[in-house]
Amino acid sequence: MFKKIFNRIFIGLTTLLLFTIMVSEASPIRRNNNTQTPVTDDDIREFKLWVKFASAAYCNVTDWNCGKACLGETAGTRLIKFFSNTVPRDNNGYVAINDKEKSIIVGYRGTADVKSFVSDTEFFQTPFVNSKFKDAKVHSGFFATYNDTREEITKLLKDLIKKNPDYKVISTGHSLGGSLAVFQTLDLIDTPELNPSNLITYTYGEPRTGNQDFAKFVQSTGFKFFRIVNRNDIIPHLPPQSFKYNQYGPEFWVDPEKNIVECSTAEDETCSNSQVPNLSIISHANYFDTAFLLTCLAK
Ligand SMILES: *[C@@H]1O[C@H](CO)[C@@H](O)[C@H](O)[C@H]1NC(C)=O
Ligand SMILES: *[C@@H]1O[C@H](CO)[C@@H](O)[C@H](O)[C@H]1NC(C)=O
Ligand SMILES: *[C@@H]1O[C@H](CO)[C@@H](O)[C@H](O)[C@H]1NC(C)=O
Ligand SMILES: *[C@@H]1O[C@H](CO)[C@@H](O)[C@H](O)[C@H]1NC(C)=O
Repeated sequence: MFKKIFNRIFIGLTTLLLFTIMVSEASPIRRNNNTQTPVTDDDIREFKLWVKFASAAYCNVTDWNCGKACLGETAGTRLIKFFSNTVPRDNNGYVAINDKEKSIIVGYRGTADVKSFVSDTEFFQTPFVNSKFKDAKVHSGFFATYNDTREEITKLLKDLIKKNPDYKVISTGHSLGGSLAVFQTLDLIDTPELNPSNLITYTYGEPRTGNQDFAKFVQSTGFKFFRIVNRNDIIPHLPPQSFKYNQYGPEFWVDPEKNIVECSTAEDETCSNSQVPNLSIISHANYFDTAFLLTCLAK
């Protein structure tokens, strides 16, 4: 088990190193334009709460028992469904209810297996048919992973929404899990009970999920996607823009002084893009007080 995890991390780090070089070469040095706006304390509270739910998706959650991520503020969450090792794409995650936060939560796991970001065939984009923008495309590997559980989990969530009409829905994930959380939200948007005030997405270190038209689609929905990027985390800069990938806006950036600022446009040069090419995988593994790969083990 641990050998497998370490092998995955090793392969991941090696490929990332290659990638750092590619990203550096593809991106000009950016200048800081200082067009950021500060984030409210209420938003920061939410960012710090939902990161714990995002990290729980890395664990073998049974009965909301998963080490540090299942303690403290998240304690008492009721696990509805845990899924793992789905076929063929090995998707992992859970659906749960937290009565204190009056929330139905869907959490998706990221991957330490960064191969899925880089293998040639997977770079291809697949049309995002659910979109009002006909040229919207997404990373075919990310979408295929989501697709493993798409029907079952979307149906389960819709049932829970009917049974808990005064609860909000939180879709969250770290890394690849962030992309999956976005797909999940987009599948729920037309649910009659849901609107921008009760369906909210929090992603941490989300890679570029799709192309510019996909980004436009996400932004056009009017729903809140809190795409949080820590400092100089490398993953939000992958796959490179030269492969027709584009982030959606706004970006919520934890800057090197740990201020949390909002940059309203996608790929804004004043937020995390200002860190290119000095990007780091360490900054990907840690968001707020959560160290994603250790969270299930720590007590
Ligand atoms: C996850 O938990 C279940 C139930 O306790 C157990 O049967 C299973 O082996 C665990 N899986 C892993 C990968 O630890
Ligand atoms: C998604 O899964 C469905 C079955 O649930 C399958 O029919 C469809 O081809 C899959 N789509 C992709 C893009 O993998
Ligand atoms: C930042 O400033 C540069 C140079 O003035 C300009 O080209 C660029 O469009 C600005 N970016 C943003 C996001 O305002
Ligand atoms: C690069 O990032 C690291 C943190 O990952 C930081 O300690 C260092 O000061 C940065 N270097 C430059 C030149 O900004």
